[in-house]
Amino acid sequence: MMFIRRVHRLSNLITNKSCKKCRFYSDYDRVTTIKEKIKQGPSLKDFLVENSEPILTESPRIPYLLEKSKIPTRRKVFFDVYGCQMNLNDTDIVWSILKKEGFIKTDIEEEADIFLVMTCAIREGAETKIWHRLDHLRGYKRRAKDRSVKIGILGCMAERLKEKLIEKEKAVDVVAGPDSYRDLPRLLALTESGQTAVNVLLSLDETYADVVPVRLNQDSVSAFISIMRGCDNMCTYCIVPFTRGRERSRPVHSIVDEVRQLADQGVKEVTLLGQNVNSYRDVSQATEKFDTHMVKGFKTVYKTKKGGLRFADLLDKVSAVDPEMRIRFTAAHPKDFPDEVLQIISERPNLCKLLHLPAQSGSSAVLDRMRRGYSREAYLDLIQHVKNTIPGVGLSTDMICGFCGETEEEFQETISLMELVDYNIAFLFPYSMREKTTAYRRYKDDVPELIKKERHNRMLEVYRRKCQVLNEAEIGNTHLVLVEGTAKKSGKILGRNEFYLRVIFDQADILAEDGGRRQAKPGDYVAVKIVGARSATLTGVPLYHTTLSEFYRDRQWGAARCLNG
Ligand code: SAH
Ligand code: SF4
Ligand code: F3S
Repeated sequence: MMFIRRVHRLSNLITNKSCKKCRFYSDYDRVTTIKEKIKQGPSLKDFLVENSEPILTESPRIPYLLEKSKIPTRRKVFFDVYGCQMNLNDTDIVWSILKKEGFIKTDIEEEADIFLVMTCAIREGAETKIWHRLDHLRGYKRRAKDRSVKIGILGCMAERLKEKLIEKEKAVDVVAGPDSYRDLPRLLALTESGQTAVNVLLSLDETYADVVPVRLNQDSVSAFISIMRGCDNMCTYCIVPFTRGRERSRPVHSIVDEVRQLADQGVKEVTLLGQNVNSYRDVSQATEKFDTHMVKGFKTVYKTKKGGLRFADLLDKVSAVDPEMRIRFTAAHPKDFPDEVLQIISERPNLCKLLHLPAQSGSSAVLDRMRRGYSREAYLDLIQHVKNTIPGVGLSTDMICGFCGETEEEFQETISLMELVDYNIAFLFPYSMREKTTAYRRYKDDVPELIKKERHNRMLEVYRRKCQVLNEAEIGNTHLVLVEGTAKKSGKILGRNEFYLRVIFDQADILAEDGGRRQAKPGDYVAVKIVGARSATLTGVPLYHTTLSEFYRDRQWGAARCLNG
């Protein structure tokens, strides 16, 4: 019975149909309810500012706000960013929106009029960190007697806790979820009259496609580009579908335009971002191609969209913008790696041959409880297929230990998977139960914290040991390194190889493309001979300046990163 009810509710969620019985309201109905409320509120006339002068020269004017709630000019904003790369990119979007409205960015706390905290809700630990930061900001706000300081909470924790955030933390003035950043100028303006302001509406189509992000770190040689938002996968442990809403893709042309603009600014590496980038689908575009079927052994709980341009098409277009621009992407889901995607990665030198294939667990029973849609065997088959199609491919993963009901034997299957697959990078997490998720409703968080911690340490031990071996095998090989800057501790030159591993080397005058000699600077591609290896860093000797196309010319893909000599 319970099962039928859940399927019924899930089906409403997926089809976005309202149902009073299960108290699910579709986006349409939610909007209608809001419309009703608006009808009872002030009329359009109340919002029209009588004086119809052109836009004020000093302060930004939002036409539907009363003059008294006008945003004071040149307010200084301090950004605090937590969570994943999507949050970094979202912060650039927020900054772009606010900059246009006349706000100023500051990196000095003492100068700030507004603190905007971009938050994460993925695990309890992530939220604890943010609560500590809020403790600090509350004290700060109290002490700042000379001016009014506002605090805004943005992102996933804002979406998860909604109004409760303000109830729990009175110092908070604004709460804005991931789909309401366009509304921030209005929300901040409302706080000027002492109100708190909340907008946590999730959208079915917001992709901020027309907002050109303004990077907080303009000097960086790499940038992030969000290509999609939300997630439909509903893995049972995960809060993301509840904080980021339904999956939607940004149109191809706006992504390609952004890559081009970044290339013009001298950016050398872009990472395409989404929760599940390989299920990308620009349905605004018709395609002649037939839809590819899901890889054998993989399934989803939702109905996949049909038609449109897919991830392979996007990779094709994005990698063609500039052959010197390195392209990475994350996160991917193992279910969406059809041959066209693997093929294009193997063919294009500037598509990094590092695939993120988050396994989450090595036990089929746990994967089933996690609702990942594949078994251990299907995952291992995929790994083999990927290795055959892209020789020398690097692999990365995410793993969770201590998920509901995980036995010692099931955990050992995770360890054995990590022994079996050579992961170059792994993100390893102890399970953290999140309210609202299916696991919260259906399972018991019954693995004691101490056991989770102990399993986490065992995963870390395997990972570090194996990475050390993998990295030592690179000694003597030459890697293409994109220089990022200077390592803080050692003062040496720091860059990344194709597998996103840190490579450090001493500054030296090395042969340049024009036959002269010069030192390495950020944005340069340098051929570096690896001479030392630790589990997370390689050390090398710089050989010569090069370009991406030059370095990979005449090389077999398998040897792309590691030519001897
Ligand atoms: N969409 C991406 C990333 C999601 S969040 C993906 O599917 O790969 C990043 C990682 O956090 C997940 O891959 C998972 O390993 C981990 N994670 C998610 N929810 C978690 C939870 N409740 N407890 C512990 N780790 C979690
Ligand atoms: Fe979470 Fe799964 Fe979606 Fe990743 S794919 S964001 S783990 S629900
Ligand atoms: Fe955290 Fe939201 Fe990213 S929960 S991991 S900031 S999508």
